Amino acid sequence: MFRALLLDRQDGKFSAKIVSLDESALPEGDVTVAVAYSSLNYKDGLAIADRGKIVRSFPMVPGVDWVGTVESTNSTAFKPGDRVILTGWGVGETFWGGMAEKARAKAEWLVKLPAGTDEKWAMSMGTAGLTAMMCVHALEAGGVRREREVLVTGAGGGVGTIAVALLAKLGHKVVASTGRRELDGYLKSLGAQTVVDRADLAKPGRPLESERWGGAIDTVGSTTLAGVLAGMARRGTVAACGLAGGHDLPTTVMPFILRGVRLVGIDSSQCPMAEREAAWRKLAALLPDGLPGEALSTCGLGDLPRLADAIVDGKVKGRTIVDVKR
Ligand SMILES: NC(=O)c1ccc[n+]([C@@H]2O[C@H](COP(=O)([O-])OP(=O)(O)OC[C@H]3O[C@@H](n4cnc5c(N)ncnc54)[C@H](OP(=O)(O)O)[C@@H]3O)[C@@H](O)[C@H]2O)c1
Repeated sequence: MFRALLLDRQDGKFSAKIVSLDESALPEGDVTVAVAYSSLNYKDGLAIADRGKIVRSFPMVPGVDWVGTVESTNSTAFKPGDRVILTGWGVGETFWGGMAEKARAKAEWLVKLPAGTDEKWAMSMGTAGLTAMMCVHALEAGGVRREREVLVTGAGGGVGTIAVALLAKLGHKVVASTGRRELDGYLKSLGAQTVVDRADLAKPGRPLESERWGGAIDTVGSTTLAGVLAGMARRGTVAACGLAGGHDLPTTVMPFILRGVRLVGIDSSQCPMAEREAAWRKLAALLPDGLPGEALSTCGLGDLPRLADAIVDGKVKGRTIVDVKR
């Protein structure tokens, strides 16, 4: 038997309960894993709080990422004892996810823990780390130069925190945008040189403002992304990965046709394996010690219903690791 947070909908009534399940309840897959940790991401918050159409079929174990040790497998790619990470691929949405002591998955979804890292490090990064790294790769591919400022929106959240830390480590002049000005010191400790108020970015403005950002990582969408695009310098690149502020994009074509701005979409869930493995290796190389203590919290399965609302409301700072044994 193993413990799991189980989401269900019976007669239209939603529930999120910790239950004890038999291993025979696990869905099909060729690798069975003892999960060590999962982590709390925005999408998990939407699923657990029943605030977005994330879960495709019930009952569902949420958790879009996890790390654990292979217990049994009929795949030749892994053996019992291997330590593996899973992020995305519809896990926690269509397939049972990581908020449980056991999980079963397809071998082709799994990444081996990078050398020199451990399970806590893996979930301090999780889906947020992979996404932030993919955003940084997109800026590098766009030729973003270090002389110009690079903006990160939603900087106090999970993806934002890791994006600030990565860009600072790479020597960029990082500007962090936040709605929580009490996080100024925190964001500077991660490596941001300047902190701006998110209200200034999101307010209605002209289609083109003065050129400021050489690159930007946007986790917010909507009027914030529109404001980011208007302030991009010529030939700058924006990596758009999130919608914490809304999924609309009220903008014009001006930044694209008059300044050659590039808008690159980031989808970590279906990221091809070679790119995924390279991103994990680079994360381990750039942030081998993980995140500072202030950026990390740990919770148990029972804390998740409360924290789910908090993350969707933008009240969670940095990353939250889920200890599935707690
Ligand atoms: N494309 C992908 O592959 C991928 C992968 C992971 C996550 N995501 C998306 O990226 C976003 C961030 O994910 P996360 O896990 O980092 O979530 P998170 O920890 O909740 O961070 C989101 C941050 O956005 C800001 N924010 C929240 N509500 C806002 C609002 N109404 N208007 C403006 N800013 C707001 C807050 O930062 P401040 O308080 O600092 O302003 C918040 O901390 C989510 O939309 C998520 O779905 C996408």
